[in-house]
Amino acid sequence: MLLFLLLGCAPVDPPPAVATRSATCVSAPAVTWENWGHGFFLTWCASCHAASTPDRRGAPEGVDFETEADLARWSDRIRARTLDEHTMPVGGGLYDADLALLEVLLTCSR
Ligand code: HEC
Repeated sequence: MLLFLLLGCAPVDPPPAVATRSATCVSAPAVTWENWGHGFFLTWCASCHAASTPDRRGAPEGVDFETEADLARWSDRIRARTLDEHTMPVGGGLYDADLALLEVLLTCSR
């Protein structure tokens, strides 16, 4: 009953796309670049995708995931290669739990 009253007082509904995203992001774990993303990309991607790596092993110049700005810039391609196509990292190996957290990071951090 209380919940009903609270929902009844909610402000104007946002457009559907935003509503879906915010529903996901409200109930999801609070994943951020600082508390998870940085470590994830360091562990799984930086051996090839970092300016300082000694051997990029063919990873394109400039496709680096070392800062939150990099994440924002490459977000769509990271999603495509990692979550949709499962073609990155080379050789695979990501845990389902990490895929789930990456989904949250990509969906909610922008
Ligand atoms: C062992 C080296 C290696 C690792 C580790 C690696 N990559 Fe790559 N990556 C490559 C190579 C080589 C290419 C260029 C060939 C290609 O696109 O398949 C590439 C290209 C990319 C591109 C640009 C091409 C495009 O489709 O837009 C993205 C984005 C990418 N990788 C994401 C990732 C992410 C995210 C990770 C970590 C979860 C990762 N990669 C880990 C080697 C690597």
